[in-house]
Amino acid sequence: MAKATTTFTCNACGASSTKWSGRCDACGDWNTITEDTPLSAGPGAKSIGAKRGNALHITDLSTEEAPPPRTLSGMTELDRVLGGGLVPASAILVGGDPGIGKSTLLLQAAARFAQNGVKTLYVTGEEASAQVRMRAQRLGLNDAPVQLAAATALRDILTTMETEKPQLVIIDSIQTMWADTVDSAPGSVSQVRAAAHELTSFAKRKGVSVVLVGHVTKEGQIAGPRVVEHMVDTVLYFEGERGHQFRILRSVKNRFGPADEIGVFEMTGAGLAEVANPSALFLSGRGAPSPGSVVFAGIEGTRPVLVEMQALVAPSPHAQARRAVVGWDSARLAMVLAVLEARCGIPFTGLDVYLNVAGGLKISEPAADLAVAAALLSAREDAALPAETVIFGEISLSGALRPVGQTENRLKEAQKLGFTTALSPSGGKPGGAAGMTLNQFSDLTGFVGDIFGAG
Ligand code: TYD
Ligand code: MG
Repeated sequence: MAKATTTFTCNACGASSTKWSGRCDACGDWNTITEDTPLSAGPGAKSIGAKRGNALHITDLSTEEAPPPRTLSGMTELDRVLGGGLVPASAILVGGDPGIGKSTLLLQAAARFAQNGVKTLYVTGEEASAQVRMRAQRLGLNDAPVQLAAATALRDILTTMETEKPQLVIIDSIQTMWADTVDSAPGSVSQVRAAAHELTSFAKRKGVSVVLVGHVTKEGQIAGPRVVEHMVDTVLYFEGERGHQFRILRSVKNRFGPADEIGVFEMTGAGLAEVANPSALFLSGRGAPSPGSVVFAGIEGTRPVLVEMQALVAPSPHAQARRAVVGWDSARLAMVLAVLEARCGIPFTGLDVYLNVAGGLKISEPAADLAVAAALLSAREDAALPAETVIFGEISLSGALRPVGQTENRLKEAQKLGFTTALSPSGGKPGGAAGMTLNQFSDLTGFVGDIFGAG
């Protein structure tokens, strides 16, 4: 018979071990290890096999059930990221840096859902009710029929949910919640996990939608939203640069819709405003064509988005040249640089390389490879690309260009915004964007030779 084992978890990094120690082996923090309290089976629980359970109710995969009804908030950007509105009895995690605008977003969303007839309860564990009311006033939302409560005790919140029967509950934030069944401080891994478990299982049981707000934290300190990602149906991250007014709500997991969908907002003096045409916004700061600047025709989720990619290449004063990236993957940059060097004979040794995606967007598509390569070359050769040109395509290690998906959507968006030419891998068809000139290349060497007369 298997022995019931007690596990110990580090409150800083979440690593688990079988014995207690003063210092966590994984992250090296002191006094962070606590005994894990199992949620159901207590210490000494018998092995499962010892007692017969009930036979499972087994079905097949066919269904007559209609897809779950969805409720729209009326904030188009939010509804799309949710996969077409709010699904009843779902659990949603909204993560993001402190101060990025999560509370603002969710207060606005709560007000919109409430105005659409969804009974909504907003529980704040971070601010006093008066502070939330003041924010509501600033946002012009005082009249919205949102129920507001300031609380951190999980037991009280669950009781209130039981009696008030809201259809949507917003918990701001999960790190401030405190379950009296768990013997550790609010914000610790065990508390966050226990609170999220109680709230999500309540959501499933009673058909309530629950939104959990989670601060992304610097390593160490307190538990970040990652520890609850697997418990919820949908994980959204609210991203953006503090200094920029753009905010991007991105779905990284969604059991009820496509992942990687984005919603774009702008932080204004009166809260978050939706940005219906992000391409126009991302390109709005662009002046005359300049070396190092190119426009990438990307796809975010189901939507085409044009963004400016900027590169700066300069002789390095350091022994080891710098590579700095904002908004893209630095490993991917290293790969593009290596391919340029190995396949096209264009070295970047001794040169500092800076790459920036304008507007605070984070791009993860491999389709951006060719745009990055073009920005790097344009900066290195100090030669601006013609205006009205967009670029997309994936670069393989052999230096070949691989076609990417949704060529037609990319081109249509580019055409809509006044672009006339696209540089892309061979193979794609303009489809509905027949007015665009397509310059296609099968490998990077051909591209470099044609566009920059080098290579
Ligand atoms: P907040 O929603 O409190 O962030 P979070 O909950 O993610 O910690 O937003 C904080 C920032 O947003 C704050 O610095 C002020 C700014 N803000 C505006 O610019 N306009 C507004 O209308 C509101 C309400 C906030
Ligand atoms: Mg907040």
